[in-house]
Amino acid sequence: MSTKLHNLLFAYTMNKFSDNMEKTFYDRKKKLLSNVKGKVVEIGIGTGANLKYYDEKIEVTCIDPNPYMQKYLNKNSKKGNWKIKFIKGSSENIELPNNYTDYVVSTHVLCSVNDLEKSLLEIKRVLKKNGKFIFLEHVCANTGTKLKKVQDLINPPWKYIALGCNLNRDILSTIRKTGFKKLVFEKYNLDKGSLVKPHIQGYAIK
Ligand SMILES: C[S@@+](CC[C@H](N)C(=O)[O-])C[C@H]1O[C@@H](n2cnc3c(N)ncnc32)[C@H](O)[C@@H]1O
Repeated sequence: MSTKLHNLLFAYTMNKFSDNMEKTFYDRKKKLLSNVKGKVVEIGIGTGANLKYYDEKIEVTCIDPNPYMQKYLNKNSKKGNWKIKFIKGSSENIELPNNYTDYVVSTHVLCSVNDLEKSLLEIKRVLKKNGKFIFLEHVCANTGTKLKKVQDLINPPWKYIALGCNLNRDILSTIRKTGFKKLVFEKYNLDKGSLVKPHIQGYAIK
């Protein structure tokens, strides 16, 4: 399948099914995102499923490499009064100046970025001093568990079908290595979701 068709289908599917997916994360995301203030950069914004959690006074810079998300994002932003700016780009190369923003937000994105280390360094670079990186991501199961072995086995075909999404990424260790001054997180398993049950959420302060 061509990249264009992949991207078109992905944007359509995300928009169609995100309300359903959001039910699982509604309370968690509300807690993480409703107190965000000032400037926010959301990487991998997709169709804008997270906008509803934000206060309408904030300014959201929306970054996504898939240009077909923008149409849905614009439409969804009109359901409220959010001021958004879309940048077609990736977390590996955020086209914003150093110390630009109060918050960077990422939900279910770091599993799919091409270069996780580079993305996290970019996130840190664009944050102001004491700025917060807020994340909610699915991650690898604990080493030695049956689920981790299955994740490792299934990852190559999964990654191909799921547009670069990795089941077995140790995102938490990489955030730790990025050198934020404080890291607060929770690790948990969803009740459903089998292969993508293990999750982390929290924030890191620059
Ligand atoms: C599973 S969707 C999640 C969308 C949204 N964050 C949410 O929680 O509903 C993953 C998103 O990450 C985007 N993405 C993939 N690689 C990326 C990268 N390197 N930088 C930024 N966004 C990326 C995809 O285009 C897609 O919109």
